[in-house]
Amino acid sequence: MSQRLWGGRFASGPSEAMANLSASVHFDWVLAPYDIAQSKAHARVLHTAGLLSADELQTMIDGLSTLADKSQKGEFIATHADEDVHTALERGLIETIGPEVGGKLRAGRSRNDQVSTDLRMYLRNSARYLASDVVDLQKAILVQAAAHVDHPAPGFTHLQHAQPVSFGHELAKHAHALSRDLERFIDWDDRAAKSPMGSGALAGSSLKLDPVAVAKELGFNGVVENSIDGVSDRDFVAEFLFITALLGVHLSRLGEEVCLWASREFGWATLDDAWSTGSSIMPQKKNPDVAELARGKSGRLIGHVTAMLTVLKGLPFAYNRDLQEDKESVIDSIETLHLLLPAMTGMMATLKFDTDKMLASAPEGFALATDIAEWVVQQGVPFREAHEIAGACVREAEAHGIELDALSDEQFAAIHPALTPEVRTVLTVEGSIASRSTVNGTAPSSVRAQLAGAGIVVSDFAKWAAHIPHAV
Ligand code: ARG
Repeated sequence: MSQRLWGGRFASGPSEAMANLSASVHFDWVLAPYDIAQSKAHARVLHTAGLLSADELQTMIDGLSTLADKSQKGEFIATHADEDVHTALERGLIETIGPEVGGKLRAGRSRNDQVSTDLRMYLRNSARYLASDVVDLQKAILVQAAAHVDHPAPGFTHLQHAQPVSFGHELAKHAHALSRDLERFIDWDDRAAKSPMGSGALAGSSLKLDPVAVAKELGFNGVVENSIDGVSDRDFVAEFLFITALLGVHLSRLGEEVCLWASREFGWATLDDAWSTGSSIMPQKKNPDVAELARGKSGRLIGHVTAMLTVLKGLPFAYNRDLQEDKESVIDSIETLHLLLPAMTGMMATLKFDTDKMLASAPEGFALATDIAEWVVQQGVPFREAHEIAGACVREAEAHGIELDALSDEQFAAIHPALTPEVRTVLTVEGSIASRSTVNGTAPSSVRAQLAGAGIVVSDFAKWAAHIPHAV
């Protein structure tokens, strides 16, 4: 008998090219442990519905456990002829316990509700594994940030010197962006935590099964409300892909920053040998490949969201085979991030910063001009005028090829009478940074409080990541 799940009405098997096109087992095998867990839960509701005797249930559960064990050890291997993971595992079960009992498992379910359930389980667990990689990276960033709270650096807008900032503040911003990615995973998880089991092919089942019991046993929070939606919805995949794409974009922006900092022109950061590579022709080179790959790999992560949305757009209801295209992209996104995140963590944890160089360039480019304007405002001058006055200081300094703090008392006084020698109190990098003490500002006192808050948030994420909803 054919191992296909649908041979009855066909006089012949599929042609080779058809079978090759159709096969998904080479990528959907990652779902095997979830499919087996789901089969156990399904067997139990078949028993409750009177469709499996107690003995048959026991045989089925034991057979599925053996199959899980053999699959894990590589003793049971899916083949190309199996078409997909569901077919392969049914073959494995029948080989283990025979067709009499093994052939009863499929009653009341379809690969349509099965695959959607498996994929939700796989993604919900994967979100935790990824979150824990992200938490490791956040911790590495926050340790570096804490070490550099009191180290001034130029802050940029338009890639031009803007205002001096605490370098710890600059580093920590990346941890905050990653926190939003983790919040998105947690929010997504609430919607993904519904089991489509019981939807059958699309209309539910006449076999008096109990989808609520299946959902509970599998670690879901509930059941999808509408069986047609249950087998055709892939929002949970599209959303997951968006979250991973945005996470990829955040890693790419961090990567770009490291590339800049490690360049000779900046000279702010030195990469550890273990987290950089050389050139095959230029012996002196030390390249920031981790950071570059972070930039590069965001491309495929972004592409995968686009691909999924394009598959879904205009797709008729309910299940269509197009939906099989939901898996490769999301598996690739997960695997890509599992490669990238630990490398980013290693690179960030071992970066060495030249704090003297950052400090020396912090006031350059007239970065203290805003401090002059705000000081003049405090002397009662309207900001509109204060901006002009500080601008005139920049013009004067630029004309003489000097920085703002090198202007003489006479030069200041000639620009505006409000510019008394006391203006020098704000013309230091440390003074400028310390004065920006808003709750989110760059003053070391503010940054220290921000880091403490971020640390608490990250440890909450670590707790979320540690609780794996689907035991397999
Ligand atoms: N391998 C299929 C997929 O991933 C499983 C569902 C097949 N359903 C069907 N009606 N042919 O979508």
